[in-house]
Formats: sequence, C-alpha cells, structure tokens
Amino acid sequence: MNIKNRRTIRQYTQQPITDELLNRLLDDAARTQTMGNLQLYSVVVTRDPEMKERLAPAHFGQPMVTSAPVVLTICADFRRTTDWCLMREASPGYDNMLSFMNAATDALLYTQTFCNLAEEAGLGVCYLGTTIYMPQEIIDILQLPQLVVPVATLTVGWPAEEPPLTDRLPLEAFVHQEVYQPYDEERIDALYADKEQRPENLKFLEINEKKTLAQIFTDIRYTRKDNEAMSQGLLNVLCQQGFLKTSDLTYPIMPMIETRPEVLECDVVRFQNNKEKWVAFVGLMDNQPYEIFTGLMDDEEGIALPKSVTRGRIIKHVERDGQKRYDFQFENKRGYKTTVEGLSEKFNPEYWNYAKLISGVLRYRMPLDHVIRLVGSLQLDSDSINSWKSGVARALKKYLPGSTTEDEKFE
Ligand SMILES: Cc1cc2nc3c(=O)[nH]c(=O)nc-3n(C[C@H](O)[C@H](O)[C@H](O)COP(=O)(O)O)c2cc1C
Repeated sequence: MNIKNRRTIRQYTQQPITDELLNRLLDDAARTQTMGNLQLYSVVVTRDPEMKERLAPAHFGQPMVTSAPVVLTICADFRRTTDWCLMREASPGYDNMLSFMNAATDALLYTQTFCNLAEEAGLGVCYLGTTIYMPQEIIDILQLPQLVVPVATLTVGWPAEEPPLTDRLPLEAFVHQEVYQPYDEERIDALYADKEQRPENLKFLEINEKKTLAQIFTDIRYTRKDNEAMSQGLLNVLCQQGFLKTSDLTYPIMPMIETRPEVLECDVVRFQNNKEKWVAFVGLMDNQPYEIFTGLMDDEEGIALPKSVTRGRIIKHVERDGQKRYDFQFENKRGYKTTVEGLSEKFNPEYWNYAKLISGVLRYRMPLDHVIRLVGSLQLDSDSINSWKSGVARALKKYLPGSTTEDEKFE
C-alpha cells in the first residue's frame, strides 16, 4: 500500500482475522526499535464480544470497539522488565515518570509499526485516543497490574468502507530548517488556508454555529474542561499503577487547597428520587463541582424555587459568634435578586453532614469519577439517605467529561 493513500478505517466486514495472520503481524511489529531493546510494551488482544462490550464505554461508546473483529490495547509496560530484574538479583528503578515516558514511547512505536504492517496486509485500522481518557476503566477490565498503563487502542478488521482521504498541512507547516521558525499571522493564514476553506470544515462551522475552525477544537472537540479533568484522571492512574508517587504531586496539588471564597457560582440541579422532587445546589470553581448541598424541594420544610432558576450563587456568611451560614441567591429575568437564607437549616441535618463530607472531598479535588464511586459505595441504612446518595451521584455525573459526547469529539 502506498502511504499517500492510507486512511483510518472505522467500518469492517464480518470476515474474521485468523490467529495466524494476527500473530504474524504482532510478531513482525516487534522488529520496531525500543529503548535498550527492552520492548517496554504489552498488547492485550480482545476478540470476545462480551469483553468488547465492557471496553466500549471506556471509549465513549465508539462503535468500532464492538464492531471490529479484533481490538488491541497496547500498554506501556515496565512490569515484565521489573519482574525480570527482581528475579535476576538486579534492583529495578523504573517506578517513575521517565520510565513511563520510555515505556509509552516504546508502546506507541510498536503500535505504529503494527498499523503499517496491518495496512500493508490489506486490513483497516482505527487508532483510539480515548484509551488515555478513562484509563482506570480499561485497567480494571483488562486486569492490568502495577507498572502497566494502556496508551493506545487499535480496532482492526477487513475494510468495509473507503472514506475520502483527509487533508494534511503543507511541509512548511511542520518542518523547520536549522532552527525553529515562529509562526506569525501571515504564515498561519497561509498554512491553514486550505484546511479552513474545505467544504467539510465549512459545514462543521455551520452545524456548530462557530466562527472559526479552531473554535470547533477549543469549544467542542477538545475543551479545556475535558482536558484538565482527564489530565487529572491520568495523573491519578500513573500514581495508582506505580509510575508516580503522590509525593511527586505534592507541589502541583498544594495550590488547589484554598479557603472557600465568600461567593461561589452555582448550578441548580433538579432530580427525582422515587416520587420525591429534589434539588441540588452545586457550587462551582473553574466550572467544576466544589461543594454540593442537596435536599427535598418542598414549600413547607425544604426549598421552594421558581422552575426557571437554574443558576445562582452560594454566599457564605460568618456570623458574629463564628457560626457559618450558607445562602442561595438568584436573579430573576428582570435582574431582581432573591436570597434564600440558611441552606443548612432548610435541609435534613443528616444530609447536611454528609454534604459537608462530600464537599470536603470535592474541594481537595479528588477526581470526580472517584467521588461518584465513593458516594455510590457508602453503606447507608435508611431509605431516605439512600435516595440522597443516588441524587448526589446523579447531580455530579453531569460534570463528568464526555457527558455530552459525539464520537467525533474524542478523536
Ligand atoms: C492519537 C490519536 C487518537 C485518535 N483517536 C481517535 C478516536 O478516538 N476515534 C476515531 O474515530 N479516530 C481516532 N483517531 C484517528 C484520527 O481521527 C485520524 O487519524 C485523523 O482524523 C486523520 O484521518 P486519516 O487517518 O484517515 O488520515 C486518532 C488518531 C490518533 C493518532
């Protein structure tokens, strides 16, 4: 196959890939270069439809995961080499960031070599970058041990489509002679002109009501919010899998520990628990949940709010005696403010205590998926507190990255 004609294939025929062909390709791909010739990678082959079904959500439901005959998860792997050292009176020092980078490099080189060989053999391949978006799920499903982190996924099958070739930037866009040439506006205009004028991209602008193609990337496909949340998840996984120590993270985590500002913007999230109407006030910092108060919507005992109220502010008051009080304030359409005083008093004290705990966890930036799992795992007795628990989980899920996904977004 001529490289000039290569393209990603996302639709596959029913024709299986034989073990013989797959093993030949996997074996040949190992001729790729690796650090110290240590081959710091592993590949998990998924053929079982049930396993594919389990993997699919970790890839944001991209359909290729279940429709391809073979799914390969390629992992950065220092486990095997570390075990080898331990069994040979050698003392390994590979539980660190540099080693992860080396293993990830090996794994990606292997992945690309496999792609070249598979395409040469007439197969179609799609690379799934979603592998590093929710790695913990993949680690759990594939039972990956310490010092093994998934870095790439390939869906592989016989092509059932021939999509148009995608564009590329011109050579001058990415090759620099001798020293790096900065990009001024004129150069950017020239280098991106073709991409920006392509009918398919112009259509994207129209559909998404955006002014520039760059905004499609910043506002829809790869947003700051998603990137930051998923970076946090990835750092967590690197700690969990033994490549990073929490002490390595002390410095970057420290600045996040702030005192609560006096005023926090908040979302009002309504939901139903069994037959009861509930409301959650989710205090936000950098658009991420920072604290949460929940309780029954009720004129008599709880909170009564006009239906139109979906945003507001939570204001902290410290009374003379040092007691803290939290008020909710919203503006109506005409700009008049209404304040609901004493959120804490409005809700059942038991919910309030749990809310304090959950808010503490949120405030110190435990990754949101872990907070939701923690809330879900609480062992609580009474029915009402169990509805509180599911309500909190439901309100927080809204802020998980990818909760408004289209396939395209996660490429
Ligand atoms: C790091 C990386 C992540 C990607 N992730 C996805 C993905 O999650 N889903 C998908 O359909 N394609 C994914 N792709 C494929 C790209 O969308 C594709 O390579 C690009 O649009 C160019 O198209 P082409 O390969 O057909 O030339 C990924 C490619 C790379 C290199």
